[in-house]
This record gives sequence, C-alpha cells and structure tokens, in this order.
Amino acid sequence: MTAHILQDPVLLHLWHPVLLSSRLGEAPAAVEVLNERLVVFRTSRGVHALKDLCIHRGVPLSLGRVSGDEIVCPYHGWTYDACGKCTRIPSLPKGAAIPLKAATAAFRCREAYGIIWVCLGSPSTEEPVIGHSGLREDFVQVYMGPYEIAAAGPRVVENFLDVSHLMFVHAGLLGDSEFSEINDYRVHEAGGMLETDEIEVYQPDPDGRGVGVNTFYTYTIYHPLSVSLTKRIEGCEDRFQLYLFVLPRNLGCSTAYMIMERNYALDEPEETFIAFQDLLLEQDRVIVESQKPELLPLDLQTELHLRCDRLSIAYRKMLQSAGVTFGTE
Ligand code: FES
Ligand code: CO
Repeated sequence: MTAHILQDPVLLHLWHPVLLSSRLGEAPAAVEVLNERLVVFRTSRGVHALKDLCIHRGVPLSLGRVSGDEIVCPYHGWTYDACGKCTRIPSLPKGAAIPLKAATAAFRCREAYGIIWVCLGSPSTEEPVIGHSGLREDFVQVYMGPYEIAAAGPRVVENFLDVSHLMFVHAGLLGDSEFSEINDYRVHEAGGMLETDEIEVYQPDPDGRGVGVNTFYTYTIYHPLSVSLTKRIEGCEDRFQLYLFVLPRNLGCSTAYMIMERNYALDEPEETFIAFQDLLLEQDRVIVESQKPELLPLDLQTELHLRCDRLSIAYRKMLQSAGVTFGTE
C-alpha cells in the first residue's frame, strides 16, 4: 500500500488535516494519512506525529500514553521522543545501550487554524495553505465536521465544486429545480490556484436560517484537496465562505474538515449552521459513496461533461498535470 504514496509526489508533500485541535488532549490519537497509520500527540513543545508502530512488537503507540515530552508504548514501556528515537527500554539492564535501530519514523506536524496538520514528505510552505490569506478576523468562524466519508478524496472535493447538483441533491435548501440553468462562467488561474467567475444561484435557504435569496458563488481550488466557495448575497454586504479540507485516509475513506466564516448573523448560535451542514453532508454522502468508478477518472472520456461542469473539468486537468494518482484513475 505504501507504493501509492511513493507514486504520488504531490499529496506526499502537502499538509493534511488530521484532527481538530480541540480534540487532542493529553491522550495520543491514532490517525491515518495516505494509508499510513500515525500517532499524534501533544507535549509541552507542541504537537508531534510518529508512525503508529512500536518497533519492538508492533503495538500501536496510540494505545500508550504521553509522559513528559515523550510517548510510552503500553506493552513493555519503550519510550520514544518526538523525533521517534527510543530513549528508554525499561527491561534493559542498567547502563546497557539502546539499540540504534530502536526508533519509529517521525513526520512534520503542526497546529494552525484550529486544526492539526501532518505532512509525510517535505512541505513547500511551513504554513498549511488555507485560502488566500487565512481566516479573517472580522468574520465569525464555525468548524463543521469532521465528516467520515467512504469515498476517495477527489470524489469528495469534486462534489463540493459541482454547482449543478445544488438544485437536485439539496432541493429546497441550496437550490430549486425550477431555477436549474447555470450561466456560462470561466475558470481562471492565478498564483497556482483556480478560481471561477461568479455563478448565480437562487437559494431557498442558503445557510439554514430559512431565508431565500439570490446568491453568487465563487469557487476556489487552492490545491488538490483544499477548496472553498464564497457566496455573495444579492443586494447586501453579506459574505459567506466555506472551506473544505479533505484528508485522504486511504483509497476508500476520506475525512472532510470544513470551516465556515461569515460577516452577518454574528450572534446566531453556531449549532444552527452546523446542523444545516450536517444535513447537506448526509445528502451528498448518498451520492458520493455510490459513484462508479470509485476513483475519479482523469481522462475526459469515461464520463460526459457539460459546459456547466467546466470547474470539474479544470479540477481533473489540474490533478492530471500535477500528477496526482492517489484517488484518481
Ligand atoms: Fe512496544 Fe514492546 S511492543 S514496548
Ligand atoms: Co452538495
């Protein structure tokens, strides 16, 4: 299975979201990135990610505990530092050297934007890329998910980028089948990102508060598994942005992290928006988990495309030219 990682020089070097910061307390956590099982833990020096395997007898370190700035295997107490080096083997006689091979692999791990991120390779930026300039201070943020989805990452992302499903999968909420035509739009490339023109969509209930409006959608693709949509609401300054960061756990399972930010209804409880997103996600899940082929076909012949699918086409071309193979075919 490791072969998939080696074959994918793109995803290997990206920061992937593995946990909400709020979910990592004193106990270590098991996560999975590109088929690789990792343990993530927190010490006084920050967050760390190691291969979740004790080299002694193959027990997951995530079953152990954090002690000082180290992690202790539950089976025989071997202790590993944040670099993956074994620093203590309790059953060795006093003074005996710890074998040099006593180590487990360590990976880059950091905390940013309320999320813990891991990179298995060499990241091109120290900071995970989220949006043009990160989260905005004058907006209110709501964390949604994480959502476990039994589908490959690119299928999950493409569903998010698909404007013409809103009127059907989310009828009565994000669209109305009486208003299903999509105006022609273009996809621009700027600074390595892809962004659409504004696309007009009538929305009966755009954010779960039950008020129908005309909206204008702009989609942005930051990297293969990191995208957002912005909604401008006609006739006012209200702005809504929804980020999607997909963790490719393995070929059949992804985890979707979402951050919504808005500059209106600032006092509205976040539960309103979370419950609404949960509902939308369940509507999408039925579709995405049933798509065939399971992996996103990058050739443009396997599936049939329309003008309104221009963004999906651009997404597939981008994956192809970047050389993404994990979750595609
Ligand atoms: Fe981890 Fe023995 S299996 S210490
Ligand atoms: Co949807």
